[in-house]
Amino acid sequence: MSAEKVYIFDTSLRDGEQVPGCKLRKEQKVAIAEQLDLFGVDIIEAGFPISSPGDFEAVSMVASIVKNATVCALSRAVVKDIEIAAQAVKHAKSPRIHTGIGTSDSHVIYKLNTTRADVLQRAVAAVKYAKSFVEDVEFYAEDAGRTDNDFLAQVCEEVIKAGATVLNIPDTTGYCLPHEYGSKIKYLKENVKGIHKAILSTHCHNDLGMATANSIAGIENGARQIECTINGIGERAGNTSLEEVVMIIKQRFGNQFYTQTQTPMLKELSWLVSDTMGMPVQANKAIVGANAFAHSSGIHQDGVIKHRETYEIIDPADVGVDQSLIVLTARSGRAALAYRFKELGFHLRKDELDVAYVHFLEIADRQKEVVDTDLEYLYQEKIAVLA
Ligand code: KIV
Ligand code: ZN
Repeated sequence: MSAEKVYIFDTSLRDGEQVPGCKLRKEQKVAIAEQLDLFGVDIIEAGFPISSPGDFEAVSMVASIVKNATVCALSRAVVKDIEIAAQAVKHAKSPRIHTGIGTSDSHVIYKLNTTRADVLQRAVAAVKYAKSFVEDVEFYAEDAGRTDNDFLAQVCEEVIKAGATVLNIPDTTGYCLPHEYGSKIKYLKENVKGIHKAILSTHCHNDLGMATANSIAGIENGARQIECTINGIGERAGNTSLEEVVMIIKQRFGNQFYTQTQTPMLKELSWLVSDTMGMPVQANKAIVGANAFAHSSGIHQDGVIKHRETYEIIDPADVGVDQSLIVLTARSGRAALAYRFKELGFHLRKDELDVAYVHFLEIADRQKEVVDTDLEYLYQEKIAVLA
């Protein structure tokens, strides 16, 4: 059986940009969109055009410059929102409107103060109206993670009849466990008439740290689009990390699924988004964190020096990282010290290494990390004089 494509829907410029303090200027959105397009995401959600004139302009600019990806604009199930979204993406080569409404009881009763029947009717009307502007209409059932499956299936069935091409099943509050989210997708696959006419999409938030696991569970159960952001940025604890799902698919599901992304661009994209938004990436972040390919304990360093795969499951070059790092600390061993000296051009004999190691530990106990200049100094002061 040949591998099936998983569509990557990047929402860094919409859900990601909702992070307090991370608002982007339109030129910044355009610069990021250009790189996302080169990287090969299938859909770029460029913004929420009704939210401000600036965002409307940003989405329009992104729509005009993007060469390959579909450009998508968000709207509520509201006539004016849909009209403005349609205007914003009208110059895109491949435009999409993403419209929707809350479907959980929490949304129906408390946020919308209405009934399920009314939500269903508004959902259908919104999709039909969006469809009068563009062919490609994605519907989101907000808080689908906490929505009763029967009602969710009913909504999905009706919006497909109304012309929805993609059904987004957001775990808006990051509530689901992976098996629950996976079962939800499976339930929709098995119980929604006409489901073969639409693509099911995951959209998971990370409130319990399970956004990535939930997205993958969704794919394993029939979803074929993942909504995600670079570095996992987004409301509260963030969205599914793009770099994580793309690498999971590449590393673990190669026979079943593929994405069309250029993964060696991941590190650069991560820097670009982090730098432009002023949002640092935690050092231990999977795939793109500064320590993702750094080894500092003696046991691990020895293993990596002998055979990289002993402690690394990803080739750093695959994600745009030059090489694995051997970081020297007080927990490092002789193998790592000899390796780093060698990298600097100093080939130490065993007796020299013994001396060097004693001095190295003295330095390492004083500071967090021993860097190249420390080693050069150590060599000149303690080893060269032995000759
Ligand atoms: O998390 C969510 O439910 C959303 C929708 C607006 C798609 O971001
Ligand atoms: Zn979201």
